[in-house]
Amino acid sequence: MRTSGTIMPSSRILVKKILGYIDFSKANVIVELGPGNGVFTEQILKKLNKNATLICFEIDPTFYAHLKAIKHSQLIVLNTSAEFISLELKKLGFHKTSHIISSLPLTFIPKEVSKNILTNSYQTLEDNGLFVQFQYSWSYYKRLKEVFKDAISLHFEFRNVPPAFIYKCIKKQQ
Ligand SMILES: C[S@@+](CC[C@H](N)C(=O)[O-])C[C@H]1O[C@@H](n2cnc3c(N)ncnc32)[C@H](O)[C@@H]1O
Repeated sequence: MRTSGTIMPSSRILVKKILGYIDFSKANVIVELGPGNGVFTEQILKKLNKNATLICFEIDPTFYAHLKAIKHSQLIVLNTSAEFISLELKKLGFHKTSHIISSLPLTFIPKEVSKNILTNSYQTLEDNGLFVQFQYSWSYYKRLKEVFKDAISLHFEFRNVPPAFIYKCIKKQQ
């Protein structure tokens, strides 16, 4: 399915590796883009500190219904495209986020939309906030670099189907 970009949910090893980048004692608003069947969502909820909130953006109605069935007082699930991250957070009274975890299939998303997603994600991140994106190739590096400049590191996890390139991007203090 093109909106999904893959046939398999992410492996537990990939999830553990990416969530290892987050200091949950300091993360108060975490945003997840493209949660799908909730493989990251459920693990984030286990680690979330008790004052924190997780906000998920999922456009697929079936995945959305599945995520809504996870009853958790710290979870907000929106059936809205990730490009509206800034607007939706403001509506909820959260102006910034410290962490964005994205599994979006950026290479399958129309260029204008993916550009808006990256720009609005950057704008919504607080200074020194972390944006993590994984993809199945390194071809997105240039596009992320246009937004995050040199504050990107590229990592690889082969224990995933398909193996994943992880882009770890920081919003440098301005
Ligand atoms: C590759 S799947 C990832 C699922 C899960 N997070 C995982 O790692 O296994 C990508 C997900 O992004 C969702 N998606 C695609 N475009 C989106 C958009 N513009 N806004 C929000 N979600 C989107 C798809 O519906 C799909 O659930």
